[in-house]
Amino acid sequence: MTEPFDWTDVRRHFPGLAGEWTFFDNAGGSQILGRVADRVRDHFLGCNVQLGATYEPSARATENVAAATAALAEQIGAASAEEVVLGSSSTQLLKNLARAMAPGLSEGDEIVVSRSEHETNVSPWVALERERGVTVRWWPVDPESLRLRTEDLAPLLGDRTRLVAFTHASNVLGTINPVAEITRLVHEHGAKVCVDGVAWAPHRAVEVNAWDVDYYVFSLYKVYGPHISLLYGKREHLEALAPINHFFIGPDQCPYHLQPGGPNHELAWGAGGIPDYLAELSVALGGPASGHAAARAAFAGIAELEERLAERFLAWANGRPDIRVIGETTPSREVRVPTFSFVAGERKSSEVPPLVDPHRIGIRWGDFYAARLIDDLGLRARDGVVRVSMVHYNTLDEVDRLVAVLDEVL
Ligand SMILES: Cc1ncc(COP(=O)(O)O)c(C=O)c1O
Repeated sequence: MTEPFDWTDVRRHFPGLAGEWTFFDNAGGSQILGRVADRVRDHFLGCNVQLGATYEPSARATENVAAATAALAEQIGAASAEEVVLGSSSTQLLKNLARAMAPGLSEGDEIVVSRSEHETNVSPWVALERERGVTVRWWPVDPESLRLRTEDLAPLLGDRTRLVAFTHASNVLGTINPVAEITRLVHEHGAKVCVDGVAWAPHRAVEVNAWDVDYYVFSLYKVYGPHISLLYGKREHLEALAPINHFFIGPDQCPYHLQPGGPNHELAWGAGGIPDYLAELSVALGGPASGHAAARAAFAGIAELEERLAERFLAWANGRPDIRVIGETTPSREVRVPTFSFVAGERKSSEVPPLVDPHRIGIRWGDFYAARLIDDLGLRARDGVVRVSMVHYNTLDEVDRLVAVLDEVL
C-alpha cells in the first residue's frame, strides 16, 4: 500500500496538535487549521467592517466572504454559492429550514425521520407535528445490523410523504448510509431528502450533485474549520421556501432570504481555508489543484489513512471479550467512518473517560444527542456509550497509546 501523505506533514497544518494532548473527541469538534485561524485574524485586523458599502475595506470584506462561500460551494459539488446557506450551527440551520418549509406543509403531510439521528435532524420535524399537523413516521434501525435499511424505509413512503430526514453517517455507530440509493428511492415517491452530513463531512468528500440530495447540512467546526455550519439546498428548492429574513429580503436574494442576520463574516472567510487545505493535500497526492475534484482526491487519501487507524483500534476492541463495539466491527472505509462507540464489561460508560483523562487523551461518554438511538438500544442505564472518534491527523502511535491505557484501566 502506498503512503498517501506524510503524517507529520498533515499534523503541521494543525497548531493545536503541538501540545501534549491526544484528541480522540473529533466527532465533537476537530482541531482547527492554522490557515483558518490566520484568515480569521486577517479579517479582524484587516477589514473588520460591515459588508456591502462602496469604500475599499468594505468592498474587500464583501469579496472575501463571497469568495470563501464560492470555494465551499465548489468543495461540495454545488452548482453555485447561491445554493449554500451559512449559519451558526447545523441545529440552527435545520430549525430555520423547517420554519421556511412550514407554510408549504399541510395537515396530514408526512415526514419520515430515522431513529439513528442526532436530534438536530429530528426536533425541527417533530415540531412541525405540533405546528402544522404533519405526521412524523419513524424509520427504525435494524436491531441486528444497527443499519438503516431501504427495505424498512420503502413501506413508510407514500403519497403524503414530503421529506425523509436521515443521517449520512451515524455519530455514534460510525455506520455510513447509502445516501444516493436512499435519495433515489425517496425521489421515486416524489419526496425530498434532508441529510445530516455532520458525521460524514470530516472523513469523506461531500458530493451533493452526484448524490442528487435536496438538502444537506454539516458543521465546519468538525471539518477543521471555525464554529459555523453549512446548509446546501438545490437552488430551486431554496427559492421556493418562505423567506425568514426581513420582509424586504425575498427569494430573489437567494440564499439571503434564509439567512437572518447574514453569516458571521470572519468565520465565513476563515472557512475558505478548508478547501485550500484540501487542495494542498490533493496536490501532494498527485491530484488536481482546486475545486471539487481536489476535495475528492484529498478525501480519498484521508479515507485510506483513517482505515488504518480503524484497523488498529478495532483489532483491540474486537479482541477483548469484555468490550462490546456498538456499531460496525469492520474497519472498511466503505462501511464506516472512524467513530467508535463501545461499552466495557458491566461498567457505566461515564466511568471510563475519567480514567483516561489523566493520560492526556481526550475521549468522552454519553448519548451524543442521538438520544432516541441510545434509548432504542437500551443503553440509557449504562450512561450511553464510550466514544473514541478519530480523524486523519491522528496517528497509529496515538491509537497504540490509547489502547495501552484502556488495557491498563479497564
Ligand atoms: C451527527 C451530528 N449532527 C448534528 C450535530 C449538531 O451540529 P451543530 O453543533 O453544528 O448544531 C452534531 C454535533 O455533534 C452531530 O454530531
